[in-house]
Amino acid sequence: MQNNDIYPVFDQIINKEQKERLLKQRAKVLWFTGLSGSGKTTLGASIEKELFNRGFLTQILDGDNIRSGINKNLKFTEEDRVENIRRIAEVTKLFLNCGVITINCFISPTKESRDMAKNIIGKENLIEVYVNTPLEVCEQRDTKGLYAKARSGKLKNFTGISSPFEIPENPDITVNTAELSLKDSTKKILDFLLKEVTY
Ligand code: ADX
Repeated sequence: MQNNDIYPVFDQIINKEQKERLLKQRAKVLWFTGLSGSGKTTLGASIEKELFNRGFLTQILDGDNIRSGINKNLKFTEEDRVENIRRIAEVTKLFLNCGVITINCFISPTKESRDMAKNIIGKENLIEVYVNTPLEVCEQRDTKGLYAKARSGKLKNFTGISSPFEIPENPDITVNTAELSLKDSTKKILDFLLKEVTY
């Protein structure tokens, strides 16, 4: 929200609705939350491909790319995780106002951080997807070897092991990638999303 009385130039800036018209899509944020290894980024990439093939413009933001760039000074303390999500939400808002469908893949482990993201982005713009793959399955997959390090104590504050994950109370969509195939989980999310983003 801009204060157009103080900054009259904002009246001259092309707004979200005009950009949505140009792109022939409604901008929304698909926000995946869940444990490391639950399948957030795999699902995000799969959704992006489906949207791209239907002519939608998207941007994926995920923990590994954001934390190696804009948020490289942040660690995994509770405080830094909140700051991580705050900056991500602000960046997401820029994409949203540009008409772009943004696909966010972050553990976002606390209600506090998820509520903050909703406040920054606007509740009505955000679709929350809880990837509720059980910890045992994520740990067994251990694609990055981080669970083993967390168990041995080499990695501190690891979500699900030595740092909490608060289960979302009211997600728009829930998928368990241990029970549903990638194809079926993608379809479940896409069926919901297409109704929201179609112009
Ligand atoms: S969040 O908690 O702040 O939302 P984010 O999604 O950005 O986390 O980053 C998670 C990714 O960072 C994980 O997928 C994993 O690859 C890596 N990582 C490194 N250390 C940790 C840790 N202590 N806890 C969780 N993830 C970690």
